[in-house]
Amino acid sequence: MKFVVTAGPTREPLDPVRYLSNRSSGKMGYAIAAAALEEHHAVTLISGPVVLAAPSGAETIRVTTGDEMFDAVAAQLDGCDIFVMCAAVCDYRPARYTPQKMKTQRLPFSLTLVPTRDILASLTSAQRSCFIVGFAAETQELEANAARKLREKNCDLLVANDVSRADVGMDSDDNELLIFFPNGERRKLPRAKKTELARALLKIILDAREKCLTKKS
Ligand code: CTP
Repeated sequence: MKFVVTAGPTREPLDPVRYLSNRSSGKMGYAIAAAALEEHHAVTLISGPVVLAAPSGAETIRVTTGDEMFDAVAAQLDGCDIFVMCAAVCDYRPARYTPQKMKTQRLPFSLTLVPTRDILASLTSAQRSCFIVGFAAETQELEANAARKLREKNCDLLVANDVSRADVGMDSDDNELLIFFPNGERRKLPRAKKTELARALLKIILDAREKCLTKKS
């Protein structure tokens, strides 16, 4: 089976030395890629800037901005069976990129930000022929927000994690996952190492895809 997995943050540059980004380490996405490779699947990993080594055996495409990730996803989805959109894409970018380093003026100033494209929400119907797994990073009302994202982003399965906790989630080796299915079913994977959770999640994804195919045929 061919997996395409996105991982890590994106960065939106303001000038040659500054950017907007987030705390994503890429560990969850890399663990999912590694779990799929362990089971002998073909994996394309589209990664934002992280300090992790590329899992051996994956085709790894490194990107920086949301636009670059958008283009890489579009180029890789052909022939994909399972798409896992785990990356923490910046929702905004500076309206203007300043080609020279902005000089400090010791005065208050404000930045104008414009929204980036939502990669998951803007997949075309042709790109949606694969099984689509979305993620949700939440600090409040996790269940309601995750259920809404599953619907609005038209996912086959959505994996939510609480990123307000210090012991799990962003930048941690551990996570705790709540998985939402379109039929309203939910499954919790309690706190564990991201590497272990990725293996359990992989089984759930493959099983859900199988059921989905059975329903379609
Ligand atoms: N996502 C995306 N493109 C974006 C933003 C998010 O593809 N520009 C994807 C993420 O990779 C994830 C899902 O959408 O699979 C939900 O992302 P999340 O950051 O939880 O939520 P947002 O849609 O950004 O909404 P909010 O920031 O309001 O929670």
